[in-house]
Amino acid sequence: MASLSFDQLVASSSNPDFSSTKCRLGSYPSYRGFHSHSLQARSSQRPLRRTFFINQQAAFCARADVAAVTLPNEIKSSLEIDWDNLGFGYHETDFIYVSKCGPDGEWNKGELEPFGPLKLSPSAGILNYGQGIFEGLKAYKTEDDRVLLFRPEENAMRMIVGADRLCMPTLPVNLFVQAVKQTVLANKRWIPPPGKGSLYIRPILMGSGAVLGLAPAPEYTFVIFVAPVGNYFKEGLAPIHLKVENTYHRAAPGGTGGVKTVGNYASVLKTQLNAKKHGFSDVLYLDAVENKYLEEVSSCNIFLVEGNKLATPQLKGTILPGITRKSVIELAKSRGYEVEERPVSVDELRSADEVFCTGTAVVISPVGSIVLEGDRLEYANKGVGKVSQELYAALTSIQMGKAADTMGWTKEI
Ligand SMILES: Cc1ncc(COP(=O)(O)O)c(C=O)c1O
Repeated sequence: MASLSFDQLVASSSNPDFSSTKCRLGSYPSYRGFHSHSLQARSSQRPLRRTFFINQQAAFCARADVAAVTLPNEIKSSLEIDWDNLGFGYHETDFIYVSKCGPDGEWNKGELEPFGPLKLSPSAGILNYGQGIFEGLKAYKTEDDRVLLFRPEENAMRMIVGADRLCMPTLPVNLFVQAVKQTVLANKRWIPPPGKGSLYIRPILMGSGAVLGLAPAPEYTFVIFVAPVGNYFKEGLAPIHLKVENTYHRAAPGGTGGVKTVGNYASVLKTQLNAKKHGFSDVLYLDAVENKYLEEVSSCNIFLVEGNKLATPQLKGTILPGITRKSVIELAKSRGYEVEERPVSVDELRSADEVFCTGTAVVISPVGSIVLEGDRLEYANKGVGKVSQELYAALTSIQMGKAADTMGWTKEI
């Protein structure tokens, strides 16, 4: 059976299976040996257990639908926000996007709804068995008042991989991207002014139908909400401080570390809170088999810099295939750096010139120090290293529309 890598999957977004209105659930009878960054291609001989179809009408024109929605009066006047002091906090905005898929396998025509609580059965799959995945991406407002999304198709593809891993119906790439656009445009007034931050977009796919025995839910809900954000770490581009975690692990081979399932995040809270209590920004996880190789931080990937070489742990199912990670690899290569995706031993932290983290929320976050086995290792004189600074400037210039997007990564909406 052929196997599609995550990158191939993204490249194949014009493949009718992923861009048309048709999607499937549970087409893979066994997950044994399945790595979350790869998706087994379907054999035409193999019967599908269940097939989901998406309503053709769901691929609507974002602008037309947004124009049709009016803001309730009480939220028209509520925009009081200190754009200069945005952290990564929660703000209610105007609209959410909601679409549902029932046992008949049809996604209904998604709609914008006023921001508010969702109604869920206490027996919902997400609440009882954690059947849920989410995504995170950003929209930026440019100096000339355009709105840019950064690589939304990549998030759509990653959600397809995650949905498959958790036996949920997938959303075609075009539907996902249209829904994101529509939600951003409906909440346009919440996008921070250029240079002040971005609109963080959080698509969620969850088992919302009621189940009692362990089984996939009979109904699924796709929701998108947005919130204006500034820096994720309070340090901003200033260096963060990490601790290597030797006791707890984030993911194990064969598990779900490589997909953005909700359960991956509750399980890191304990170590993260403990680290923060001791003055660290976050923890750096090691592999669960040998406790020897770097994995990632709670919500970002990691890179080591030595001379002209960048090294980052390879994707093998236990770490998230970050879209910022992928972009930094492509950007660094285009700027003449050598980039290696391979097992990175924890001991390599001792000889690195610079270390930085990557993620949608953090963008590129330089690491000032890491505590490893009682030793405090310091990087770039606890400042912002040259390579981190260069890549941060190059990436954010593209994301914010300040530089020509030679990589073709941004999508104007
Ligand atoms: C565990 C984990 N690793 C890495 C990342 C970075 O991924 P991305 O660059 O796509 O935001 C995230 C954020 O989504 C994450 O939650």
